[in-house]
Amino acid sequence: MTNTARAGVWAAPGRVNLIGEHTDYNDGFVLPFALSQQVTVAAARRDDGLLRLRFPAASGGTKDPVQLRIDALEPGRGPRGWAGYAAGVAWALRDAGHPVGGVDVTFSSTVPPGAGLSSSAALEVACALALNDLYELGLPGDELALLCRRAENAYIGAPTGIMDQAASACCTPGHALFLDTRDLSRRHVPFDPAAHGLALLVVDTRVQHAHADGEYGRRRAGCEAAARTLGVRALRDVPHGELPAALGRLPDADSRGLVRHVVTENERVLRAVDLLAAGDLPALGPVLTAGHASLRDDFRVSCPEVDLAVTAALSAGALGARMTGGGFGGSVLALVARGAEEAVGAAVAAAFAEASYAPPHWFGAAASAGARRLS
Ligand code: GLA
Repeated sequence: MTNTARAGVWAAPGRVNLIGEHTDYNDGFVLPFALSQQVTVAAARRDDGLLRLRFPAASGGTKDPVQLRIDALEPGRGPRGWAGYAAGVAWALRDAGHPVGGVDVTFSSTVPPGAGLSSSAALEVACALALNDLYELGLPGDELALLCRRAENAYIGAPTGIMDQAASACCTPGHALFLDTRDLSRRHVPFDPAAHGLALLVVDTRVQHAHADGEYGRRRAGCEAAARTLGVRALRDVPHGELPAALGRLPDADSRGLVRHVVTENERVLRAVDLLAAGDLPALGPVLTAGHASLRDDFRVSCPEVDLAVTAALSAGALGARMTGGGFGGSVLALVARGAEEAVGAAVAAAFAEASYAPPHWFGAAASAGARRLS
């Protein structure tokens, strides 16, 4: 059934967000970069309309392949987990009128799952890119990212923004992606900490709180309600200079916290972009740390393990540290002196042991390539 003339291998990376958290569903700014860890997809067209998905157990999947009829895919009725993301992408492409048929797909992944590093967006984007090429759709990366977000929102039912899919689809090596999530205009900003004697450390706390999904949706709904109260299309439209007046018009401390975070976070993204352009990377540290305080105190999406990773990294000499991704667990990003990755990672591990938390996992990161065809 497999048409070997129409086969290939594609890859799409996980991401770390440098700054700009919970801004994407508020039409704001984000500044993610791609990790070298990625989802790889070996895929071939089939002419029988079947979607045959294989994610070997060794890569975090299942022993048996999942087989679905491509014309029977329906939101809310698909498989759960990794196969659901792939099915969702096929559904979103077809629902948008793109002539996608059967395909055999084997996934493998080096993106740690559940670590807030967008393993699911990487899977979606790798799959979308494979289908785009196999069925000669000719869609650009940002269009594929939008379709992957639709898979996530409408098929899976997770109310996420566009950042993760856009980062996976559009990032370039050595750059962070400065993205305006309102119109998807973007700039690739050179980002090479090593050239400045610095390094990036990612600490996966290995914590994923069960209530994360519901809390994410509640934060999003809270932001949208605050925007309605303030009479703006999205919180992005509250100018930083008008923040005190806007806060005065909000009814409660919770919504004031949401708005204060989003408005100041957009400002921090702009500041970070300026610092990268000026080559002043050390000054980025305090911006990252301020972003974390805002997520912890105003947006309230941190958790004790993540806070401890941030404070332990800072005590061990990190120039700045913050949670990255949706929150309630996941990973922390720390900007450290080059060569200090091991010492800072070990200091966080020691603090975790002291607190009787499970050992964290850490690795050094550099801005890597976005989604691409490998062969
Ligand atoms: C998750 C979502 C993104 C974004 C971040 C928070 O990663 O998928 O769209 O909202 O949380 O910045």
